[in-house]
Amino acid sequence: MAKAKTAYVCSECGASFNKWQGQCGECGAWNTLSEFVVEPAAAAGRPAVRHGSWAGRVDGEAITPLWDVGQAVEQRLSTGIGELDRVLGGGLVEGSVVLVGGDPGIGKSTLLLQALALMAARVPALYVTGEESLAQVAGRAQRLGLPLDKLHALAETCVEKILANAARATPAPRLLVADSIQTLWSELLTAAPGSVSQVRESAARLVRFAKETGTSVFLVGHVTKEGGIAGPRVLEHMVDAVLYFEGESGSRFRVLRAFKNRFGAVNELGVFAMGDKGLREVPNPSAIFLSGSRTAQPGSAVMVTREGTRPLLVEVQALVDQSPLANPRRVALGLEQNRLAMLLAVLHRHGGVGVFDQDVFVNVVGGIRLQETAADLPVLLAVLSSLRDRPLAEKTVAFGEVGLSGEIRPVPNGEERLKEAATHGFRRAIVPRANAPKQGAFKGMEVIAVERLAQALEAAE
Ligand code: TYD
Ligand code: MG
Repeated sequence: MAKAKTAYVCSECGASFNKWQGQCGECGAWNTLSEFVVEPAAAAGRPAVRHGSWAGRVDGEAITPLWDVGQAVEQRLSTGIGELDRVLGGGLVEGSVVLVGGDPGIGKSTLLLQALALMAARVPALYVTGEESLAQVAGRAQRLGLPLDKLHALAETCVEKILANAARATPAPRLLVADSIQTLWSELLTAAPGSVSQVRESAARLVRFAKETGTSVFLVGHVTKEGGIAGPRVLEHMVDAVLYFEGESGSRFRVLRAFKNRFGAVNELGVFAMGDKGLREVPNPSAIFLSGSRTAQPGSAVMVTREGTRPLLVEVQALVDQSPLANPRRVALGLEQNRLAMLLAVLHRHGGVGVFDQDVFVNVVGGIRLQETAADLPVLLAVLSSLRDRPLAEKTVAFGEVGLSGEIRPVPNGEERLKEAATHGFRRAIVPRANAPKQGAFKGMEVIAVERLAQALEAAE
């Protein structure tokens, strides 16, 4: 094969060089050069498209009314795992490329092996492993009790060989898992496997393969602690969907979150529990994100979040303690740090409660990450409860956005959230006025409507 033309491109300024060097000659940044294919070998002979050729066809491509194109409805395939289907937006779209990212050991290989084995009964599937031997994969599948007769596997890391194998296989695979993208490398590049350029180029080839053949591809990617230099971050814009697999170490619960999805809602959550038979679906996840403590504890507030398309009860815990430091600590787990700092400022200015000499720790139970502003009010109620060392009233739930001028703003889908809380036996809800029903009660639950932070703090006393 003709050697592709490659160049070393600086990720800071975009300057390109023929040889690798430690420092960019243009902008002076260190260690920012990585190798990229400038011109793939196969495309080298293609004539350039000239401007001014609007009349008529250009290289067989043509401008087409979308109406003529839009009639082809995407074909979806159930993965056989309901929670995975939900996160994908109702099943796997044919010919789509889905990146599944997460920390090492979280269960990515287990999830995809389970899904692939279930789908292999209906469509030809290929599991490509670059991390484990075939014997290890087979052993795991057997331990999980998965049907193996239809599932084909390949232990290979060279992306050209993987594609050649896939093209030769009969029947041709309609599904392919590449586990993991960090182990793959392309013959076109000299960089080491795992480097940004190799990860990008390997993914680009698999994406092209998916689009050309209509094969659905799952890419597994490890998130690295250093911010994901060779992790899946660089791939996010290349693929159709990005799912993150998250969970607390030590907890058996795992949350699969859609971070990007061209075919469905983002922030959709799928919940799983890891057991000795692999990952099991948790169809009613509300209960598991409460700490399990039966009596109300100081520093704890329960909220109804709505991640994706379903409401979820989640417990927010706070610990407020006298600080020995000149700059007291603000630590937020499962929540944005800056948001916490802002909320504490609003608490002081509009709630009259100062915590400037206190360390404040906030944690969302169950390793879940809250991204919506409905968590504002429960966070402040948990902080206040810890500061006063008094629990909130039993069976109380809260949600609402807190504005900078101390107003409590409504959040979407209020009624659905109230319904979830009532279903799980909550007796009292503190919510924004616009989210509260007029009669002050909802399915036997007392609903306290608040407009200002001060009112909410008073209601929580
Ligand atoms: P794995 O799928 O290999 O993680 P990843 O591919 O994301 O690196 O999962 C590995 C972890 O899952 C490992 O710590 C063991 C645990 N596990 C179970 O608890 N039960 C099981 O049935 C399996 C297969 C794995
Ligand atoms: Mg793995």
